[in-house]
Amino acid sequence: MGAQSASVIVSSGYSLIFTHVDPEKHAHVMSPCWPEYERESLSVVESRLSRLLGCQYPVIQTAMGWIADANLVAATGRAGGFGFLAGAVMSPEDVARSIAEIRCQTDAPFGVNFHMYTPRAKQIVDICIAEQIRAVSYSRSPDPATIERFKAAGIICIPTVGALKHALKAVQLGADALVIQGSEGGGHTGQVATSILVPQVSASVTVPLAAAGGFRDGRGLVAALSLGADGIAMGTRFLLTQESPVPEATKRIYLETAPERIIVSAALDGMPQRMVLNNQLQSLISASSLVVLVRAVKNAFSLSRQTGDSPWALLKSGWRMYRAGDQSLSATMMSANAPMMIQEAVVHGRPDSGILPSGQIAGLIEDLPTVNSLVSSIVSEALATIEKLGKVGVLDASVAASTAHLPEDGSQ
Ligand SMILES: Cc1cc2nc3c(=O)[nH]c(=O)nc-3n(C[C@H](O)[C@H](O)[C@H](O)COP(=O)(O)O)c2cc1C
Repeated sequence: MGAQSASVIVSSGYSLIFTHVDPEKHAHVMSPCWPEYERESLSVVESRLSRLLGCQYPVIQTAMGWIADANLVAATGRAGGFGFLAGAVMSPEDVARSIAEIRCQTDAPFGVNFHMYTPRAKQIVDICIAEQIRAVSYSRSPDPATIERFKAAGIICIPTVGALKHALKAVQLGADALVIQGSEGGGHTGQVATSILVPQVSASVTVPLAAAGGFRDGRGLVAALSLGADGIAMGTRFLLTQESPVPEATKRIYLETAPERIIVSAALDGMPQRMVLNNQLQSLISASSLVVLVRAVKNAFSLSRQTGDSPWALLKSGWRMYRAGDQSLSATMMSANAPMMIQEAVVHGRPDSGILPSGQIAGLIEDLPTVNSLVSSIVSEALATIEKLGKVGVLDASVAASTAHLPEDGSQ
């Protein structure tokens, strides 16, 4: 069958394009209640975000330390989304090895997340440039010279921000697109909810935006588009997939936790972070300053043994962050807590003695799909939702027509 194509403009810069697809391969995205022409043709959803990143769908799998590994990133790329490798917790050697592994598994474009203040960040930057990866993500902006290097190499810069002022600064520094993370989101997070932050930022910048924090499905994708974003970025939803390397025992805790028990606290590393409120987090919250300090020093030595970076190198990177005004002194002291205690849960599979960073959306997630079926179902549900909303619009119009004769004061 030849390719068919039709286009429905949903919002500026966003369109649904229906083309022919292999019905067997995409059987899972074809709802039996869809109109005949859609079932035969369909289904590509694209936006200026997906066009910029070079992926099929405007769905980003964000970086998550020890979780967004080569396998998860490759699975996301194969499914038509765009994955970021969690380079911020990797050595430069591991980043290079993971890039090669992803490329063995897929031709799809992908990105690398890095943290400018880790001791060997510059080597990771060099690798990203030498390997010509498609995009980099970061939450603390690198210096302007580094951003300039990425841009000169044609690498897309897409930082994550949690406040309007950070969005404006990031764009001024050269960001090509932004991930706008509302307070519902997992890991370090801001104070403004996604439903407020996304329209606020979209009214102030012109670069493509991915909304993050609280997304899991196609209805969320449509909601994000209606708020002014060009797609969605998700962490927790990808953590809870078959390909995610998180051990089953820990995944089970995520699946069983209610949204109100996924809270924001600065008790782990001195910065507001959204996590599952388990006994370990509760004990951090109630600990005295002395206990916190002793634990932080112990974790700093464990981290130094693990990464091969000397305690002195770790201290120096913390100090640079403090000097740059990016974090408080207490957060600098506690910064080794997060990697050690998160690994306990997400790598070693001991959720009771570790910390589980999580978006609040984990409270609404009940399954562990493959990445392919997750991305496909997001796309099909987004299309079905738009169709349903179109019908609501027609219904409203007919209601309006049938009630046009009624008096304005509402009396019958
Ligand atoms: C377990 C976990 C680990 C994370 N690690 C990182 C990280 O290493 N670097 C980063 O920039 N963001 C990290 N994040 C934040 C995510 O990339 C993403 O912005 C966030 O999860 C989006 O919100 P959602 O969980 O509601 O989808 C992490 C989030 C989680 C849940």
